[in-house]
Amino acid sequence: MPKELLMIPGPTRVSPSVLKIMARQIVSHTSDEFVEALEDALKMTANLFQTKGQPVILTGSGTLGMETAVCNVVERGERILCVNNGYFGPRFGELAAAHGIAADSIEFEWGRHAEPSLISEKLDKGNYKAVTIVHVDTATGIANPIREVGDIVKDFDALYIADTVCSMGGMEVQVDNWHIDVCLTGSQKAIAAPPGLTLLSFSEKAQHAIEKRKSPVDAYYADFGRWKPVMQDPRSRSYFATPSVPLVLALREALRLLFKEGLQNRWRRHQIIADAMRTGIETMGLKIFTEENFRANTLSVFEVPEGVSDADLRRVMKDTYNVICAGGLGKLKGKTNRIGHMGIVTPDNIVLTLNSLGVSLNKLGRKTDTRAAIAAAKGKLKSFQLASRSR
Ligand SMILES: Cc1ncc(COP(=O)(O)O)c(C=O)c1O
Repeated sequence: MPKELLMIPGPTRVSPSVLKIMARQIVSHTSDEFVEALEDALKMTANLFQTKGQPVILTGSGTLGMETAVCNVVERGERILCVNNGYFGPRFGELAAAHGIAADSIEFEWGRHAEPSLISEKLDKGNYKAVTIVHVDTATGIANPIREVGDIVKDFDALYIADTVCSMGGMEVQVDNWHIDVCLTGSQKAIAAPPGLTLLSFSEKAQHAIEKRKSPVDAYYADFGRWKPVMQDPRSRSYFATPSVPLVLALREALRLLFKEGLQNRWRRHQIIADAMRTGIETMGLKIFTEENFRANTLSVFEVPEGVSDADLRRVMKDTYNVICAGGLGKLKGKTNRIGHMGIVTPDNIVLTLNSLGVSLNKLGRKTDTRAAIAAAKGKLKSFQLASRSR
């Protein structure tokens, strides 16, 4: 049996050097080693986010990041606008409700992008403390135009909160230039660190909004004010709650590798790989679920073809080639299949996955020209070799 190839849209595989760090003995959270690691990780987080705002790294998943973003800058009784066109957008509204915050939503069809001009119209009519948006929705594979939406939100008296859990590290995000006040991501996707950390940034405007709050933050662990001294100066060794020592060390190594590759190179690699994967999928006669021109580079979502069950397809891919893909999420369960291609993904991984997909479809009775699909994908991957050579 070949080694397992994890091709789900997060968590993703990590590099051997990241693995090695996870296997080490625990060091003190006040040791020089850990303090330096946290300081490095915070600096690299700010560089990755392209922000001069305050970076924060918390133990917890992306959902904690979403909740931390909202509950610090918005107060009980205030109202936010949630841009919804997938599985994760409505989560902002749900967690807002848990904090007594009202949430209106603007809805777009799943698989289609959020239209900035309609968001502008909605903002004209309401009085919102913040606007939330998901950059890449992991159920639909859509990449929302968060830059264009940021250009709109900046002209309103609202804070802009962006979930980049499924894009940061694999696709361009410029927090300051795109006017994002609170940006959040997770460690386990395109950054290629283990799951368990959420990374955030708070702009000056967001920090000012926190300072001006009339009521205390409606949370204890997620209270930005309690973490700020730790994150502003890890060398102060101020304590609020014990950080996950191995995860922070592993994140530092994953970020070091990310910057060794270079941000632009990484985005380009994700773009070429996404293009190759989708070309291969389409050459097999399958239909990409996501609207053209708004497709994320971190995953591909395609419709399960007639006569084949999503669960069978994934089972055969696993049983024959040990390639692990994901099924549809939320209302797309059973209707779509998702292949993650982010983090440390390579051109070889794409070829192996397409081969496994094509052979499995044939086994399930769906005639598929796997060779043609792989040839088409390889044609696209040539530009990867060219891009790597020019470095
Ligand atoms: C876009 C997006 N936002 C938020 C989340 C929630 O993150 P977590 O599962 O780490 O809590 C996910 C998880 O996959 C996601 O893809």
